[in-house]
Amino acid sequence: MDALRIQGGSRLSGTLTVDGSKNAALPALAAALLCDGTFTLRGVPPLQDIQNMTHLLSELGCDVHVNGRDITVETNDMSKVHAPYDIVRTMRASICVLGPLLAARGEARVAMPGGCAIGDRPVDLHLRGLKALGATVSLEGGDMVLRAPELRGTTVFMGGPFGSTVLGTANVLCAAVLARGETVIESAACEPEVAFLATMLRAMGADIEGEGTPRIRVRGVSKLNSVDIDLMPDRIVAGTLAVASAITNGDVQLDRFPLDHLLAVNDRLAEAGVHIEQIDASQPPDCCSVKITTDRRLRPILFTTQPHPGFPTDLQAQVMSLLCLADGNSIVTEKIYPDRFLHVPELARIGATVIRQGATVVVQGVDELVGAPVMASDLRGGAALVLAGLAAQGETLVRRIYHVDRGYLGLEDQLTALGASIERVDGGPM
Ligand code: EPU
Repeated sequence: MDALRIQGGSRLSGTLTVDGSKNAALPALAAALLCDGTFTLRGVPPLQDIQNMTHLLSELGCDVHVNGRDITVETNDMSKVHAPYDIVRTMRASICVLGPLLAARGEARVAMPGGCAIGDRPVDLHLRGLKALGATVSLEGGDMVLRAPELRGTTVFMGGPFGSTVLGTANVLCAAVLARGETVIESAACEPEVAFLATMLRAMGADIEGEGTPRIRVRGVSKLNSVDIDLMPDRIVAGTLAVASAITNGDVQLDRFPLDHLLAVNDRLAEAGVHIEQIDASQPPDCCSVKITTDRRLRPILFTTQPHPGFPTDLQAQVMSLLCLADGNSIVTEKIYPDRFLHVPELARIGATVIRQGATVVVQGVDELVGAPVMASDLRGGAALVLAGLAAQGETLVRRIYHVDRGYLGLEDQLTALGASIERVDGGPM
């Protein structure tokens, strides 16, 4: 099983380009099921989750062609409506096909996703939203079965106990574009990936306004046409690379950086002494070149994860690694997934002083981290351990790196290009 071996202590420098966004690509690819023509998404990183999604689309009767980083999808069999457990258990985001299948084919049969390392991830809001549009919902042999000969527009409320739902909003949006009449999605997720989906659907002929705000208005159309669109940059990869620069006190330039999508992170990092500055004001702030510079001493900060435009849960672990080296006590509170702290005991193995109480972690900054063998248990927590390893004295071995590979394409190659000493090795059995 692959592991990453890191010799910490190298100061990163150089320039990297941020990859396309996995979390925008997954619902966008699922929306190819709505397309009455040729669907092309460009600049998609060939990550495992992307391959899982293209495999699922093939199972659902689509011809999928991958040409480098460009993916083309055409539907040839509308009778397939089943996303089986074999695929869903490898990728929870398979649930993205629920809304598109229901809207385009009148029926969706998607295996109920099971447990998840980062905590409870219910799907009640997805189902409530699609029911409101007229679907019947039943559970058959572990599959959610939704049927609706015709979807009808209405007002759908997508808020839940932890805020809105990103993929739930995507599902309802995809169903509403072909529903009869007008749908108003209240308490819609404002994440940039949802806004990207809306922009793409509009390019296919959908009538949508308000994306990126909590109220999205959709007027149903009878069909959606071909589309050819470039994928947006990945704000979580961008933030992770920015922390990699900061934690090594590096001097890194990042191109295709979605600064506008990371304003809460930028604000907190600036308070800690990490400055992300746009280099050329003529570039759009959602895709620009930035320079990362870091003050000699990092200051402790407080941050709380929240739905967008708040601080994203998907960067909580990585920024926590950075704060392990700040000059004082930081407080990190997780409001989206209160149990998303699998990285905490592993950070302690590298010498961090991290004390968890419920959904809050107190990080007492230390002067140095000390390399050790550690284990990734989830995607972002695993990335956080790699970052900590970059700063630690001596050797860190991050095992179970397949978790990290789900969301970062060749992370070791990218970090090597910036001067890190990191290599992929056989980490032995589980
Ligand atoms: N929730 C419910 N009911 C639902 C759905 C969600 O209560 O029906 C709760 C969740 O338990 C959570 C909160 O609502 O507390 C937000 O979950 P959300 O549905 O927004 O998560 P998601 O759409 O399943 C996406 C990303 C996650 C990211 C979250 C939050 C993709 C493929 N996944 O998941 O990304 O953490 O939004 O921003 O887009 C990752 O990339 O590492 C990752 C986990």
